Amino acid sequence: MTAPDIKKGLAGVYADYTAISKVNPETNSLLYRGYPVQELAENCTFEEVAHLLWRNELPSAAQLKAFQEQYRAERGLNEETIAVIEAMPKECHPMDVLRTAISFLGTFDKEHFTTSADDIREVGRALLAKIPTIIALDIRRRRGEGYVKPDPEKGFSENFLWMVFGDGPDSPLNKPGDVECFEKSMILYAEHSFNASTFTARLITSTRSDTWSALAGAVGALKGPLHGGANEAVMHNMLEIDDPAKAEQWCKDKLASKEVVMGFGHRVYKKGDSRVPTMEAAFKKLASEHEGGEKWVEMYDVMEKAMYENTSINIRPNLDFPAGPAYYLMGFDIPFFTPLFVMARITGWSAHIIEQYENNSLIRPLAAYNGHDERHVS
Ligand code: COA
Repeated sequence: MTAPDIKKGLAGVYADYTAISKVNPETNSLLYRGYPVQELAENCTFEEVAHLLWRNELPSAAQLKAFQEQYRAERGLNEETIAVIEAMPKECHPMDVLRTAISFLGTFDKEHFTTSADDIREVGRALLAKIPTIIALDIRRRRGEGYVKPDPEKGFSENFLWMVFGDGPDSPLNKPGDVECFEKSMILYAEHSFNASTFTARLITSTRSDTWSALAGAVGALKGPLHGGANEAVMHNMLEIDDPAKAEQWCKDKLASKEVVMGFGHRVYKKGDSRVPTMEAAFKKLASEHEGGEKWVEMYDVMEKAMYENTSINIRPNLDFPAGPAYYLMGFDIPFFTPLFVMARITGWSAHIIEQYENNSLIRPLAAYNGHDERHVS
């Protein structure tokens, strides 16, 4: 028998079609429903992009108004969910809080099992509305502060930053570069084809399980440092290096000892991540408005150059590299960086769940057995 052709990590395997986004590593491009992500980040709000991903078209003014009225009204949390979040250990990872809260919210869904694309959109919309509130509450309770009710009059980023930081003089709300950078990061993080967490959501959906389960599973996959968790690791590394003058040697040492440097490299993009130029520009603009921001910009530039020049394949940064220091400068605690990614990616995940649901085939690959030969107990 010929040995099976194993594709470790499913690298290079086409598992299905998708009409949601197109990643082209040859041209460093990423399209959402046909639109270049850079154009969306420059010209659209995250709410418009959510509509695009779910409905295949950017909204008209009337559609946007209706969408905003509907989802912004769903931002609040019921008492039971607040109590569950408050009961979780303050030392646990915020991704665990988020995963548990999503699961818990699912128990209020009387239908529970998904029976149409509209069901999936409803769950996605509820979580687009509630995840920022969950994260804001989790940030605040760890600081010993109470629940702040969301404001339906505010846009997506403004409402979230307001719930977390208020609108005092030090709030990111009073730094235009922060609000712009945050909104752009949401658009850039929204969708990225068959990445690990999206594939997890599709796999769970393929069993005809419900949307809450698919989304809770996706959060678990995103938590890993080789996926969403990288934006946290980037900032831990930058803080460890501390001095831009030490950054080049630090990278060289990591590479010499064959360690992975977080925020660099990508499974699909081998010539650079299409989302980085937009996020890098937004990070650098934001940093120029923050005291001490230039230190992180300098470190960013040194590390980018060092990784490129000291690897045979010229490794370049991925989106997590500029996102890490940008979120740090905005004032977020590092363990919350990956939950911020979830706030955005909930849109892409739900779009993929709809696509999987509407053209389903149970995902079940084969495994080539390489264990013990058959043997017997007696
Ligand atoms: N730091 C150091 N070396 C790296 C690297 C990194 N961030 N990314 C890749 N490499 C090395 C690999 O170890 C490999 O070396 P080898 O040939 O000696 O084994 C070589 O570069 C080629 O790797 P490649 O095939 O391009 O990577 P991959 O597709 O297997 O892995 C990632 C992709 C994302 C898992 C990997 O780049 C990584 O772990 N990056 C850090 C985590 C991260 O930032 N994740 C967020 C992704 S958006």
